[in-house]
Amino acid sequence: MTTSSVRNSTLTITPVTDSFVAEARGLDLREAQEPAILREIANAMDRYAVLVFRGQQLSQAEQLAFARQMGPPDTKLNAIMKFIQNRMDSPEISDISNVDESGEVADKNHRQAMMNIGNRIWHTDSSFMETPWRYSMLYAVTAVSWGGQTQWADLRAAYDALDDRMRELIDDLVAEHYALQSRMILGYTDSSEAELKLFPPVRWPLVRTHAGSGRKLLFVSSSIREIIGMSLPAGRELAAELLEHATQREFVHSHQWAPGDFVMWDNRSVLHRGRRFDETERREMRRVATVDDVPALPIDEDSRTKIFGQPAI
Ligand code: OGA
Ligand code: MN
Repeated sequence: MTTSSVRNSTLTITPVTDSFVAEARGLDLREAQEPAILREIANAMDRYAVLVFRGQQLSQAEQLAFARQMGPPDTKLNAIMKFIQNRMDSPEISDISNVDESGEVADKNHRQAMMNIGNRIWHTDSSFMETPWRYSMLYAVTAVSWGGQTQWADLRAAYDALDDRMRELIDDLVAEHYALQSRMILGYTDSSEAELKLFPPVRWPLVRTHAGSGRKLLFVSSSIREIIGMSLPAGRELAAELLEHATQREFVHSHQWAPGDFVMWDNRSVLHRGRRFDETERREMRRVATVDDVPALPIDEDSRTKIFGQPAI
């Protein structure tokens, strides 16, 4: 295999490694893209999982218009954003900024700033939803002078690196993901009943096969609250061990943001997290995501209700 650039009319894809992260050059994402270009982007996403476009200048409407060309944008997660604030023009756009409703840098105790802390632990966007996301597309309006990177961990490489015994142990396991699990780890206590009800737990195989590349991947995340058929401690310890495995430095890529950077990632193939920054600086980002067409596994009503009746610790 080669890591040299592939050129398709105006689009150049330059891989960072042979199979993880690439830079896409030559496109102005404000323009409507040719079907062949969109296919090339989707192919690059299947292979590299993270694509970086620099020097873009996107309004909210332009960011949304590009996303629509890649698939149907999600609105459901934004239902939760309305419990916080909504500075954005459309329910398809998430505000990933530390900016309050008046447009100023939010106080560190503002719910908007608090919510962003949750982005700093390893997660996939929406593994806790029945119809999760395929692509997340994050655009930097401003960037901070210290920290604030986003990192991605390659779940396909993480699976490939497991030994045979570990694969045998986990190949048929099913994990229950819960939207508020990672928030409980951090000690958020202010989720309303309405927020809780919006995202009941869902189940995913711990090992999935990526539809676009055929590669197996280790589908772990901080949102796992239980491994079906294991005790809570045994399941959570296994999930923690696998998360630690998947996020070793060799599987991780870090992006230092500059204004105008636009990064898309495949939530089936990678975990991600944001890094610490000086919260008095303005970090203004917007995200649009497309929904995937593979739903979570069916779940029985019993496990749906138990989380509400008996919150996990
Ligand atoms: C996200 C996210 C991390 C960051 O937008 O989904 O997790 O660095 N962002 O802002
Ligand atoms: Mn995220």
